[in-house]
Amino acid sequence: MITLALSKGRIFEETLPLLKAAGIEVLEDPETSRKLILTTNQPNVRVLVVRATDVPTYVQYGGADLGITGRDTLLEHGSDGLYQPLDLQIAKCRISVAVRSDFDYATAVKKGSRLTVATKYVAISRDFFAAKGVHVDLIKLYGSMELAPLVGMADAIVDLVSTGNTLKANQLVEVERIMDISSRLVVNQAALKLKQAPIRKIIDAFAAAIGQ
Ligand code: PRP
Repeated sequence: MITLALSKGRIFEETLPLLKAAGIEVLEDPETSRKLILTTNQPNVRVLVVRATDVPTYVQYGGADLGITGRDTLLEHGSDGLYQPLDLQIAKCRISVAVRSDFDYATAVKKGSRLTVATKYVAISRDFFAAKGVHVDLIKLYGSMELAPLVGMADAIVDLVSTGNTLKANQLVEVERIMDISSRLVVNQAALKLKQAPIRKIIDAFAAAIGQ
């Protein structure tokens, strides 16, 4: 049995064509089904539906042989012991700093004043601002980061930006791009040894599908 861990939403949707290239079709839709283990047209391949931030953990502990997760998640939560053969170039977005449109970010950063930053990306934010020599107080949030500057809780947020619509809808502006994000294929090292042929077949099919 080959087990692939995926998260619902954009990563799931954008993985379907890659799976198809590998001859795998998921037979259930995680948006309508409550099932967490989805069957495929291949009797020996199944898909686990997990939280995006849990994908590396499932693969690390062998609950899944393979997983697909964002570079943001791997950087924030660590990727110890995971083999990362491919950048799949899917679910592309960026991690950026955003502030209220009336906040003078450039001056605040230049003056060396302390900046309060709300984010779920605490490690990425700490590294980014430390490299710039900016002092930050970080407030850890788990979602809806856009609210924090609006209610005066933070000067800035660090969050994923894709179309920019969420920022715009909340009168926030992107002031700095920290890094580009896309999703990676991660593989359990032991599974790679024990189930080498079927896992290699999937890696090779994905690589061919993305032109690598
Ligand atoms: C992400 C991110 C932003 C939004 C950006 O949230 O946190 O809120 O998408 O996308 P946009 O630039 O296209 O508007 P997501 O919907 O993934 O949910 P989350 O809050 O759980 O991260």
